Amino acid sequence: MNPKQISFAAAIMAVAMIVLRFGAVPAMSQQVPVPPDFSYEETKPLGAVPFSHKFHVTEKKLQCPDCHTKIFQMKKMAASPAMTMARLNAGEFCGACHNGKKAFSSKEAKDCARCHIKK
Ligand code: HEC
Ligand code: HEC
Ligand code: HEC
Repeated sequence: MNPKQISFAAAIMAVAMIVLRFGAVPAMSQQVPVPPDFSYEETKPLGAVPFSHKFHVTEKKLQCPDCHTKIFQMKKMAASPAMTMARLNAGEFCGACHNGKKAFSSKEAKDCARCHIKK
């Protein structure tokens, strides 16, 4: 190939890479395994708070970037030491959505038990 053909081939390759990369992303996100449920335990005197990816992702159709990694790291319980009700109620962590707008509020006495499942 002459230099002109080579640069043409390179341009075709670049376009193909972009199509492959961005075309593949939505398909891939469907295949990323959804982690199993786990439970936050620093909740005394109330009951522990289970968190379900299955519910939020599969049932409520939220996307990984809705939570990762602006609100939460992809690491189980990483936020736990910093997570207090005061910070949730100020709009951090679960409170980014559980504010009475995107989802039921963390401040409503009638809804405490929806997160703090009794033992
Ligand atoms: C509604 C919010 C939310 C959505 C949406 C979400 N996650 Fe998570 N994810 C969390 C929380 C909360 C944690 C725990 C983080 C913490 O405790 O600091 C977590 C942790 C994880 C972990 C670590 C789990 C472990 O067992 O160590 C992985 C992996 C993960 N998420 C992957 C995903 C993927 C993949 C998607 C999209 C299919 C996704 N998450 C969507 C909230 C979410
Ligand atoms: C959206 C889910 C959610 C709702 C609703 C909720 N909580 Fe929590 N709560 C949590 C999480 C998550 C933690 C932190 C657990 C951890 O850090 O391991 C927590 C922690 C706590 C703690 C431990 C001490 C502290 O201040 O962090 C108390 C007490 C508590 N919640 C009381 C309440 C009360 C009272 C209500 C209702 C007005 C309520 N919670 C509603 C999720 C929720
Ligand atoms: C990106 C937004 C988002 C974040 C962050 C988020 N949730 Fe949710 N959550 C939702 C939505 C949307 C619903 C469904 C609407 C509703 O029930 O108000 C929901 C519903 C729930 C429910 C009700 C489940 C049921 O069976 O009815 C629980 C419990 C819950 N979330 C716990 C949590 C906990 C604990 C955290 C933090 C570790 C959290 N959520 C973080 C969006 C979020």
